[in-house]
Amino acid sequence: MKTFSSLANPEYETQPFTDFSRVTPRTDISKLNFNWRENDLRERDRTKHVHRLHPYLGKFIPQLVEIFLRKFAKRAVCDPFSGSGTTIVEATTLGLDAVGVDVSTFNCLLAKVKTDKYDVHALEVEAQKVLSAFDLAAEGLFADAHGNGSKQASEYLRLWYHPLSLRELLLFRKIIGGLRYEDLFKVVLCRAARSARLAPHHELDNPDEPVLGPYACRKHFRTCRPTVGAAKFVRRYLLDTLERVRAYAELRRDVHVCIKHGDARQIELPAFDTIVTSPPYVGLIDYHEQHRYAYELLGLPRNDDWEIGPAKGGASLNAKERYRAGIIEVFRNCAESLAKGGNVVVVVGDRHDLYRDMHKDCGFKLMDRFERHVNRRTGRRNSDFFESILVWRR
Ligand SMILES: C[S@@+](CC[C@H](N)C(=O)[O-])C[C@H]1O[C@@H](n2cnc3c(N)ncnc32)[C@H](O)[C@@H]1O
Repeated sequence: MKTFSSLANPEYETQPFTDFSRVTPRTDISKLNFNWRENDLRERDRTKHVHRLHPYLGKFIPQLVEIFLRKFAKRAVCDPFSGSGTTIVEATTLGLDAVGVDVSTFNCLLAKVKTDKYDVHALEVEAQKVLSAFDLAAEGLFADAHGNGSKQASEYLRLWYHPLSLRELLLFRKIIGGLRYEDLFKVVLCRAARSARLAPHHELDNPDEPVLGPYACRKHFRTCRPTVGAAKFVRRYLLDTLERVRAYAELRRDVHVCIKHGDARQIELPAFDTIVTSPPYVGLIDYHEQHRYAYELLGLPRNDDWEIGPAKGGASLNAKERYRAGIIEVFRNCAESLAKGGNVVVVVGDRHDLYRDMHKDCGFKLMDRFERHVNRRTGRRNSDFFESILVWRR
């Protein structure tokens, strides 16, 4: 009988594995220690180049994806829950074709912008023009800081932004309309919009209500004031995005990428030989709602009802059953396009034990299972927990 390496991995006796580029199909994965601490795998490495184009709650670590792609992938990879596109980005730097699916239009936009091929010079020229036009027009807005002029904006936008911030964001949106790299500028716009919300600094992921005056900030441990103005964020993030895209363009290989918007339970997929994915956790995150500002600003369509295991559905017995059935449906759908003998790597926090024996319902064999101690998540969240890495085979 096969013994799984599962409970050996949390041991801290060996040094966590960081020599990612040395992984080959012959590497014995069960010998590797994935329990990185902040010192082993720093935030700047986990968020290298385009991985930090826009914050995203629920992203997995690119280096974990890299290990499994180097080990298993041959030509083409699929991530049926591609989110912000971590698997797809990593695949493109390793010379693999990639297909990603996500139910959220904003996530698809983000993954597409991250993994596009850019004519970097043309992008820089266009970005310079955008910045000049924005600077010129924004000066006029600043002089009239308390005017309105955003009456046509939605109630949400008027509630969550200082009038000046809102007018600057709407101005940027207008300037970028119809440009060659409009999608990339849209992501810059949304990142600036996230920072400019009237949200307390300690609640940027899930703010309850707007702050309208000075407040006790639990992130900076002092009194902070609500954010006035978005222009500084627009400028900063535009320059940062250019730098990140430049770095990624050096690494991106000439491969084919397809980001599909839809429900992974039903969507049609091209052929691939490996899956590396992290499904939503049951009852934890509302993936559309986390980027509400983006949906409101860009007028994107929402498909909340297609989300598997949304936070608003809770984690009751019934919700867990629906969740499990939904995930199985996704993997069954993927199995039709997965090469025989192809591997499926699933990274998931399986607190409710919903993945035990799930491979059987999907028509896969269980090859391995690891438990990874997550002692420092990307960003400033500092929660401690275990996540499972399941390796299945068709
Ligand atoms: C844990 S996140 C994936 C994050 C991704 N690994 C990354 O690094 O960005 C799960 C994703 O599944 C998506 N999702 C939920 N239900 C889905 C469905 N029925 N079809 C496709 N995607 C879905 C969510 O929108 C979310 O982006």
